[in-house]
Amino acid sequence: MNLENLCNIASSCRSCPLHESKTHTVFGEGPEDARIMLIGEAPGKNEDETGRPFIGSSGKLLTDLISGAGLNRDDIYITSIVKCRPLNNRKPRKLEYTTCIDLYLKKQIEFINPDIIGLLGNSAIYALIGKNNIKQIHGNIYPVDGRKYMALFHPAAALYSRILLPQLVEDMIQLKKTAEF
Ligand code: URA
Repeated sequence: MNLENLCNIASSCRSCPLHESKTHTVFGEGPEDARIMLIGEAPGKNEDETGRPFIGSSGKLLTDLISGAGLNRDDIYITSIVKCRPLNNRKPRKLEYTTCIDLYLKKQIEFINPDIIGLLGNSAIYALIGKNNIKQIHGNIYPVDGRKYMALFHPAAALYSRILLPQLVEDMIQLKKTAEF
């Protein structure tokens, strides 16, 4: 089993109700030896249409944040806690994200074995490290099961509330520093 096999399996997954309404599975993209992994909430409309993660407006901001921190998007593995778009962009339900994390995300993390995992937004933060209060914990690093996770705002939150943008810029720079050793 490798990442490509897992991606093929995910493309015909029927393990939760999200497959019923999706167009494409958005498994994730980036190099298998990426030192940094970023995990968002769920594919949106543009991602569902194309099968690629973070290519809509929050994706454009994410790409800018990555470049602003002196990184290249092509060097980062980017995915989300669920691989299929929830209708009307509702938040993924617990059964949906726990199923998807167990079947796919945990294995993606094992294959890629990144130095640091950036969790973008409340949904990814809660699903992976069980924390809630992003305003207080963003920028912090949490060791969980032998991996390092950093909590960050979701780029969509910074599009909605521009006041968060400088904090997201700073956190992305810290994320880069953490991956350098
Ligand atoms: N938001 C996410 O969390 N993931 C995507 O792929 C796009 C938007």
